[in-house]
Order: sequence, then structure tokens, then C-alpha cells
Amino acid sequence: MRYSSSFCSAVGLTVSLFTLSSNVFAARFNVSSPNQQLTFTISDDHTQPRYQVAFKGQTVINPSTLGFDFARAPSMRNSLYISSAERNSHHETWQQPWGEARNIVDHHNELLVTFTDKDSKTVQYRVRIRVFDDGLGFRYEVNQDEARYITRELTEFSITDSGDSTAWWIPARGWNRYEYTYNTTPLHDAAHVHTPFTFKNKQGVHLSIHEAALVDYAGMTLNQRRPGTFISDLTPWSDGIAVKTNGRFNSPWRTIQVGEQAKDLLNSHLILNLNEPNKLGDVSWVEPGKYTGIWWGMHIGKHTWGSGDKHGATTERTKAYLSFAAEHGFDGVLVEGWNTGWDGDWFYNGDVFSFTQPYPDFDFKAIKAHADKVGAKLIGHHETSGNVSNYRNQMDAAFSLYAKNNVSQIKTGYVADGGNIKRIDERGHARFEWHDGQFMVNEYLDNIKLAAKYKLSINTHEPIKDTGLRRTYPNWMTREGARGQEFNAWGTPPNPPEHIPMLAFTRMLSGPMDFTPGIFDMGFNGLGDKTNRPQTTLAKQLAQYVVLYSPVQMAADLPENYLARPDAFQFIKDVPTDWEQSIALAGEVGDYVVFARQERARGKYTGKDWYLGAITDEHARKIEVKLDFLAIDTRYEAHIYQDGKGANWQNNPYALDIKKQIVTAKDSLTLQLATSGGTAIRFKAL
Ligand code: NOJ
Ligand code: CA
Repeated sequence: MRYSSSFCSAVGLTVSLFTLSSNVFAARFNVSSPNQQLTFTISDDHTQPRYQVAFKGQTVINPSTLGFDFARAPSMRNSLYISSAERNSHHETWQQPWGEARNIVDHHNELLVTFTDKDSKTVQYRVRIRVFDDGLGFRYEVNQDEARYITRELTEFSITDSGDSTAWWIPARGWNRYEYTYNTTPLHDAAHVHTPFTFKNKQGVHLSIHEAALVDYAGMTLNQRRPGTFISDLTPWSDGIAVKTNGRFNSPWRTIQVGEQAKDLLNSHLILNLNEPNKLGDVSWVEPGKYTGIWWGMHIGKHTWGSGDKHGATTERTKAYLSFAAEHGFDGVLVEGWNTGWDGDWFYNGDVFSFTQPYPDFDFKAIKAHADKVGAKLIGHHETSGNVSNYRNQMDAAFSLYAKNNVSQIKTGYVADGGNIKRIDERGHARFEWHDGQFMVNEYLDNIKLAAKYKLSINTHEPIKDTGLRRTYPNWMTREGARGQEFNAWGTPPNPPEHIPMLAFTRMLSGPMDFTPGIFDMGFNGLGDKTNRPQTTLAKQLAQYVVLYSPVQMAADLPENYLARPDAFQFIKDVPTDWEQSIALAGEVGDYVVFARQERARGKYTGKDWYLGAITDEHARKIEVKLDFLAIDTRYEAHIYQDGKGANWQNNPYALDIKKQIVTAKDSLTLQLATSGGTAIRFKAL
């Protein structure tokens, strides 16, 4: 027998030993969450590494394989037995420099299991598992010279399902990256999907599979092989290899969030807890805030990125936007199309972008002087059109130019079809990569690390999905990585009414999103245009600032449209983007969602006010909310922005009722949401 009972009791684990027909012993180790509700079991039955998961005594993940195929080494598949196991637990509260919550509790039990090859005893693989109350993560820790080229990761998620689970998903490995509308289907019909992959089983338990700390590795997509069994499908390099390493690596954490109710998924900090602490030291230079921009005009065809009569990024317009921003309390102004290279079809122009040469009608010096004078900052923009080598070659100079001009935040862009990121390899050959393959995972992070040297924060568009790296690199503030507001300008079709309550339970589980809310003019082509307009009410545009978390939020519309609705604009001016705490109060995936957030003390924000955002899909809805999240013994003046009488997204999106009433933590409010409507509330502490 391989285990002595003293070993088992020494590590305090539940181990059951039983004899297999081949006369080999099998081991099974459990590790449970601090509240004992969630249990992960790992085993080597038939010398095959496998795990399974139970929640409240019910199996939610059936026995699922673990392992790898390598190009130049035998697979980690079978012939392996558990040779040792260590146990640990951890309980700490750590702080975010900015975020949806200041304090994050990390309370988990850990198990570290070593698998040893039964013939060649030197071949070993470790699997580290951490189980929290809100979910779990496990990762591989490999230290084998020959394990350099991973061709396949064999991690399975065999979901307990008899055809009665519902899944919400977007397709993986498509041309449009993560920018698809979400599907609602029986789990069986989710063929090849991106993560976070959210689903609900027959008992109503909600789960979401994702990954944390994706560093120097390929992004994981999930491919449904046998019904209910998803296998990790790593996005490969252009040469077909999945991951290239030196044989010593930790994989990203494979994560499973679990909740009794849909909203439990939103109140989880699992992904952040599985990332490394801040590696940048003092990050007081990373500043949350709000911005406007020379941006929407390009999307609705009023301005152009390229030069000519309609050029958006002129000195004059930039100055006017900076003045507008400063006057209304915004921190910055994003300006796109300031640099040469946009003329012609910029989608395919990646080779000719200059990141230092402005168009002649964009005068950096004058703009900086104006920005300094009025007290708002220019926000930088680097669109690469997916030609990352061209960007790489200029990155240092580009960052240095912006830093010199007092820019502290840059939006980057990687517009290119999936699989069409162009890089020039060591031999000068063009290679075409996926946005979520290992090459780009490294490229995005290198951009963040270099930016940090210049004290620049980054907002990545067409990004790699978020896996919580903002904890380690707090200058990676936000990103796109889903269909944003821009689809409502030209999406054909635009984002459907259910889009926001869909994002909340899927994309947003990974981290902040630069959705760019706040379109006030829903009818730039006429309200009757069913293909290119936001399919929401005005109140819903406001509620997005609370529901969709991002430390930097845009007021995306043209200044004149805000000036036309100063009543509604007041909410955008008031709402902060940095929070002391956040609570998802209610919701169902794709139907509706309600968040309450307490502002964090910073600048003009005292930390006392609370905000609430409620959003619905195409159905009008009445939602009761208890205000028991408010501080006891404090009176608040609630500024309520709600869908007005007769409001509906189709032909009456602008009807908005704004009222003030005094409330306390003992009160409840009944929110009345129109079709694709919302409610936004500021609770001003008195
Ligand atoms: C796509 C981005 O998502 C959008 O915000 C930007 O305006 C364009 N690329 C141009 O860079
Ligand atoms: Ca985009």
C-alpha cells in the first residue's frame, strides 16, 4: 500500500482506499469550502487523474479528467497516482486601491496534490485546489523539462445535466472575438463557448466556469464533446501549438463559481482572490474617473477618424470638449483619430499607423496648455488594427509622448478579425494569431507593464478577456471584451433589450467593462430605426453607470445631447466610479438585475452616499427593494430617476420622472421599470 495511515491523518484528509480489479489502490481526497457547502474531490482511480464537485451534497460536476498532451513528452493522462497531498487554509482581508469594493475577504481551504507516474517515478504533476464559499479554482503546477509544448489541455467540466440545464453563452473562435449577442439555450446546445460560461442546473443552482490569472498561457475556451462534457480547448498559436513554455509553469486557475441564486454569482470575488497581489507598488497614480470623448460622432457618421472636412480630432474641438468636461466635473477627454494612419480603410491599415505623428490639425502643445488651464486631462488612444508589431516598434516612443503631455490613461484597440492579429516573427515573416492565444496574452500584458513604467493606465478594447489581473497590475483598469454601446450605432442588429442583464451575469463576472453608457439621443437616425439605435429608455442608460462596473466610465454621447437634458445629465455628473462596497440585490440572468453600491471616499466623494441601478430586459417589471443596505440612523435624500408615465424603449424612451424623497434603511421602494427600462437612484446622506 502506498499510504500509511499516519500520513493520511498527518495531513488531516479524508482518504478512502479501495482495491481495483488490477490490484492497484486508488486514492480520493476531498477539500471543502469554509462553510462546508462546496466540496472538491480529486482521485486517481484507474491511475487517471480526475476531479468532481458537489454543492450542498448534490454533484454539480461529475468525475472529469485532468491532464495534458505534450508535443515532446508522454501525456499527463494516466499511469499516474497520487503520491502526496498537503492541506492549508487561509483567511485574510485585503484591500483594492480602487474597485467595486475596498475590502476583499479571501477565505479558502487549499489542497495540493502530487501525481507521480507509476513507472518513471521522476515524472510528477501537481494540482493546487482552493475552495471558497463562492466557488473554487484549481491549477496545474508543472516542472518537467520535456513538458515544453502543450498540444492539448485535458481538463474536463462534466456537468451534471440530464437535458434540463439552461446556459447563456457566446461562441468561441469566431471572427468577432467576444462581440456576440448572448444565446440562451439548453446546455446541450452550447457547442464551443467562451468563458465566463454561465449556466443553471435543474435544481436552480447557478454556476459559471472561467479562469483566473491568465499569464503566459493560452486562453481557455470550452468545447462540448459528449453531451454535458466540456473540454478545455486552448486557443492555439499560428503553428498549432497550444502553449509554449520552458517546462516550468503554473497554468491559470480553472474556476467554477457556484451560487444558490443568480445574484450570488455577482457577489463573488473568486476571480480576484485567485490572482497575485499588486506587483506595481505605489499605484496612487492610477485614478478612477469619468470621461467624455471625441468618439460617438465617429460611430454615428458625424465625424471621421481620418483627415478631411469631418475630421473629429481637431485642436478646436478637443479644446471645446476639454472645457465641457472640466465644467461638468469629468476628469478626461478621449480623442480618437488624432494620429496619422486612419485614412483609407483603417480596419486594414495597421501597418501605417503612427503613434507619435499627429494630423496637422491636432496641435498637442496647444491642447496640453488648454487641458492644464481648464483642469481636465487628455485621454490617449492607440488603435493598432491588429498589427501588433507595428505598435510594438513604437510603443516606448508613443508612451513617452503621451506621458510628456500629461496624459495618464490610454485606450488601446486591436480591431482585427479573430485569428488575424498580424505579428512579424524573428525571421521577418508575417504570422496571424488569435486575440486569445498565448502570443496575444503576453502581448497585452507587456503593454500594461511598459505603460506602468510611464505611470499610464490602460483601457484595452478588443482585449483578451479579463481574468482578474487588475489585482496584480492595477493600471490595467478596464477593457471592452463584449458588445459595447458602439453596436447601437452600427451593429445591425444593435444590442437587444436583454443585453445588459445578460452581460451582468456573464461578461461582468470577469471584471470591469468599458461599455460606454449614457446615450441620450436614441433617435440619431429616427426612433423608428430598429437596426441602429440603443434599444433602451433614457432611465436605463443612467442605471448602466451603477450596474456595469468600471473604474472609468464614459459619458458617451455628444455634449449637445447632454446640454439638452440637464435633468438627466445630473445623475451622470453625480455618480462615482469607485466603490466602498457593492451588493447585487436581485436578478435573473438575461431578465433583470439590481445593484446597490456605496461610494468610496475619494476627492469630492465623502464615502457616505449610496447608489442603486436596476435594469430590465424587454419586459416591463415591478421590483420591490428593501433599503436595508443603507446605514442605520442616517436619513437620505433619494434622487430617483425612473421611467416616466408611458415610457417604453420603442417609441417613448425619453419619458423620465425625477423625484426626491427622504428615506431610511427601514424603508422599501417599489421600482417600476418600462420595457427595456431602468431606475437610477442616488441616496444622498443628510
Ligand atoms: C473599436 C473600439 O471598441 C471603439 O471604441 C473605437 O472607437 C474603434 N475601435 C476605433 O479604435
Ligand atoms: Ca469594439
